[in-house]
Amino acid sequence: GNKIRNAKLVLLGDVGAGKSSLVLRFVKGQFVEFQESTIGAAFFSQTLAVNDETVKFEIWDTAGQERYHSLAPMYYRGAAAAIVVYDITNPASFTRAKKWVQELQAQGNSSTVVALAGNKADLLETRQVQIEEAKTYAQENGLFFMETSAKTAINVNDIFYEIAKRLIQG
Ligand code: GTP
Ligand code: MG
Repeated sequence: GNKIRNAKLVLLGDVGAGKSSLVLRFVKGQFVEFQESTIGAAFFSQTLAVNDETVKFEIWDTAGQERYHSLAPMYYRGAAAAIVVYDITNPASFTRAKKWVQELQAQGNSSTVVALAGNKADLLETRQVQIEEAKTYAQENGLFFMETSAKTAINVNDIFYEIAKRLIQG
């Protein structure tokens, strides 16, 4: 078969957590050390084949700066999936991620597949958020969780692939 399924996906998370970098890695296979902070939001698309289906992700990469917070509902409403991103070296970004999860659970669509990404997993020496803490939090809140690195590409395709599988399973 060659069914194409469109899926709106939104990335949410603190400034500098690596949302744009994850998207750039997934869509273009690239990484830049000095990625500019996103203004408003940016749109990308990328397809992924899963078994005999093709998922076409329509990706909204939102801006983490607080002044853009009020725009976020436009992007997460109606989203099939969300990736909430934090930086494993920055505990404040983990706190911010939990706030995004709360907001999604309160204001978003209950059928949205929500993934939690602990990004910058290449920076093990400066880790400040323990993997077990995030795993437990994710389990308790019905999210699936992966540590990722936009820099080394670890788990980047995997997190999108896992989302696509869950969307297909429904
Ligand atoms: P806003 O657009 O401001 O909300 O930030 P963002 O979440 O899009 O973060 P962005 O992708 O701009 O990344 C911020 C900085 O972290 C950039 O300098 C990136 O190069 C760096 N960065 C992103 N992902 C990784 C990663 O996996 N590992 C390392 N070492 N650095 C990363
Ligand atoms: Mg950005």
